[in-house]
Amino acid sequence: MEQKRYGHFDDQHREYVITDPQTPWPWINYLGNEDFFSLISNTAGGYSFYKDAKFRRITRYRYNNVPMDNGGRYFYIKDGDTVWNPGWKPCKTPLDFYECRHGMSYTRITGRKNGVEASVLFFVPLKKWCEVQKLTLKNESAETKTLKLFSFEEWCLWNAATDMENFQRNFSTGEVEIEGSTIYHKTEYRERRNHYAFYHVNTEIQGFDTDRETFVGLYNEFADPQAVMEGKPRNSHAHGWSPIASHYIEVTLKPGESRDFVFLLGYIENEQDEKFSAPQVINKQKAHALIAELDTTEKVDKAFAELCEYWDSLLNIYKVQTGNDKLDRMVNIWNQYQCMVTFNFSRSASFFESGVGRGMGFRDSNQDLVGFVHQIPPRARQRIIDIASTQFPDGGCYHQYQPLTKRGNNDIGGGFNDDPCWLIFGTVAYIKETGDFSILDEMVPFDNQPGSEVTLFEHLKISMDHVIKNLGPHMLPLIGRADWNDCLNLNCFSWDPNESFQTTENVSEGTKAESLMIAGLFVVTGKDYVALCKKIGKTAEAERMQQAVDAMIEAVKKHGWDGEWYLRAYDFYGRKIGSNECEEAKIFIESQGWCTMAEIGAEEGMVAKSLDSCKKYLECEHGMVLNNPAFTKYIYEYGEISSYPEGYKENAGIFCHNNPWVIIGECLAGRGNDAWSHYAKILPSYVEEKYQTLHKVEPYVNCQMVAGKDAFKPGEGKNSWLTGTAAWMWYTVSEFILGIKPDYDGIRIDPCLPETASDYTVNRKFREAEYDITIHPNGQQKGVKAITLDGNPIDGTVIPYSPGKHTVEVTM
Ligand code: BGC
Ligand code: NOJ
Repeated sequence: MEQKRYGHFDDQHREYVITDPQTPWPWINYLGNEDFFSLISNTAGGYSFYKDAKFRRITRYRYNNVPMDNGGRYFYIKDGDTVWNPGWKPCKTPLDFYECRHGMSYTRITGRKNGVEASVLFFVPLKKWCEVQKLTLKNESAETKTLKLFSFEEWCLWNAATDMENFQRNFSTGEVEIEGSTIYHKTEYRERRNHYAFYHVNTEIQGFDTDRETFVGLYNEFADPQAVMEGKPRNSHAHGWSPIASHYIEVTLKPGESRDFVFLLGYIENEQDEKFSAPQVINKQKAHALIAELDTTEKVDKAFAELCEYWDSLLNIYKVQTGNDKLDRMVNIWNQYQCMVTFNFSRSASFFESGVGRGMGFRDSNQDLVGFVHQIPPRARQRIIDIASTQFPDGGCYHQYQPLTKRGNNDIGGGFNDDPCWLIFGTVAYIKETGDFSILDEMVPFDNQPGSEVTLFEHLKISMDHVIKNLGPHMLPLIGRADWNDCLNLNCFSWDPNESFQTTENVSEGTKAESLMIAGLFVVTGKDYVALCKKIGKTAEAERMQQAVDAMIEAVKKHGWDGEWYLRAYDFYGRKIGSNECEEAKIFIESQGWCTMAEIGAEEGMVAKSLDSCKKYLECEHGMVLNNPAFTKYIYEYGEISSYPEGYKENAGIFCHNNPWVIIGECLAGRGNDAWSHYAKILPSYVEEKYQTLHKVEPYVNCQMVAGKDAFKPGEGKNSWLTGTAAWMWYTVSEFILGIKPDYDGIRIDPCLPETASDYTVNRKFREAEYDITIHPNGQQKGVKAITLDGNPIDGTVIPYSPGKHTVEVTM
């Protein structure tokens, strides 16, 4: 069925162009790269924060509201009796033209009404703590127009959690200052905070408002604020209640005339002894300096050009040309972009994650590294150290830490026994990309405790040991609170709806709950660890771990095989999960993915059978579901997984994150046709073409979950943007399908392609080298026959690293 379209890709500008504001769900973008961040929807909804969406929320947002996507940076234009917004919302006045272009760390929203065009470019300049909103107003009519322009931002009282709860206090703490065209938000600055925010415009204003109820009116809405409807600012000064920032500007434009306004939403920190310039008056020096850096159109345009160059350089590191636009645009643009976003935010702030519940995940952030490490290796390096610093001396970990403090916190539990392995996964990816083995010698504390430092290598070692020391009766890894599947809570036993599956006290005495997913993960990362140990001359350690890996492989073959696929787990009592013997959920994807990636039992035919079973039982039109058949009732012994209705989330949803595991399994097994068909099913550009309405969420990025075949509405997407899917899709396509794999001594070339693949090129910057690689598949799915480097044949499949520019020809 032909579905309605809301937009299209513009590859030349690396943009997604939304042409109808009424998308099936807010379609958002992210601004900012390092410290200051914003989320922005296609109608300019969203919010900003500094580093941490929980502890330093700058502007307020109302999640899951009516209307959806309520709150943002709004410009109101009053032209005679008509009031409208360039992004259509919140007034929803029908526009003569609407367009939203989401690009690489910027968004441009343009609206036209009655001969006036308003275009706003939103971005966060590199290394600056502010969001720029460059508004261009143009009179395209034949008569002179006098317009009344109102800006609008609503301040959050910094802590996004208490901001939503503690009204008895909040309604009395709000404080602002107004100076010229700048509105300052300084709530709690008088006490322990050393930071404030401001909203500025680079022109004289004719009025302002800082008190929300005075501006909006208690019985009005964002769609019809009283001050705007009457065309009269109140010049209100907020004391408590809800402080906002709104500028009022009168603009007269002759026919054809246009004018730029630069609005700046900024964040400032001051030293303790420099907080005030006079009693009660904040020291504005740094704000003035920041404003001066961006107070003209020219300065802003220059900052924007720098941002665009930055993205050019990031996206120049890996560039493919296959002639298939749908593949090229995901590899060259959107997949890499999403990887940067997930690296920055982990799973903290999206339109599905409130930014309050979760910080940086130990498991999640390690996985994000395989999608990001090629982009900015030094940031990846720091991230590895930050993550490892939250580990405990026994190798266990906090499941997440706060980006502002970098301290572990227990908000979503701990004791997930897969967590430690991921540190090896991330670190190995980093060293292979950079060749920087020195990271292994970095001194890294436990639980951030000074004095507890050991080398990063030691952290890797205790991570492996954590698995070995926690084996169950079948010599398979004990699952702990859960493994990658947060919802497989085999030691939880909860009948109380008031307790969280993630944090409730677990029964660990006497448990026999073991995970085949961790077993596979242990073998994959264990092999990596062994190779790393050999590389750095730790032969005895390599030998020790090889034995543990071999033992694990044996245990899986002996106790983890169900005849047609790998088992998923053993429960608390030692009963099989994910077996043909089970009534429901006979097969799970995670253990198929990890055990095929680990190639366990390949010779005995287990890998091929497992992959076939995925096709037979898990695959559907929209991808592979997590388990089959879905659970139809809550199972006390299994926990959260069976709490979800059929076809959603961890209960037989298409968890896009783990489809790539099976795809990599297919690639290792040389089954290029199957790998490709699984991959294309969840590749956003293919979905975009077919299912914009059904899919619902942004068509330019992967979402965490697509409703599975047992769901009420199969194919409907949820939880867009912040998902390990981004990194795994990247890892899969860049290294296993297209076959360009960084390795310690060079780049390994080993593609796995559909038979129909034609010749393609990859331009890959790698350390101090740049490789122009042309691949001739010759109808082969797998197997490199010959490689030449700068015209000379080489042995094997690894192009030895040497700085400089090189040409590589690969024949399959
Ligand atoms: C979700 C998981 C998530 C976990 C931790 C569960 O409700 O289903 O996907 O990882 O919560 O927040
Ligand atoms: C989302 C979490 O972020 C991730 O860590 C987890 O593995 C999946 N959910 C599956 O439960």
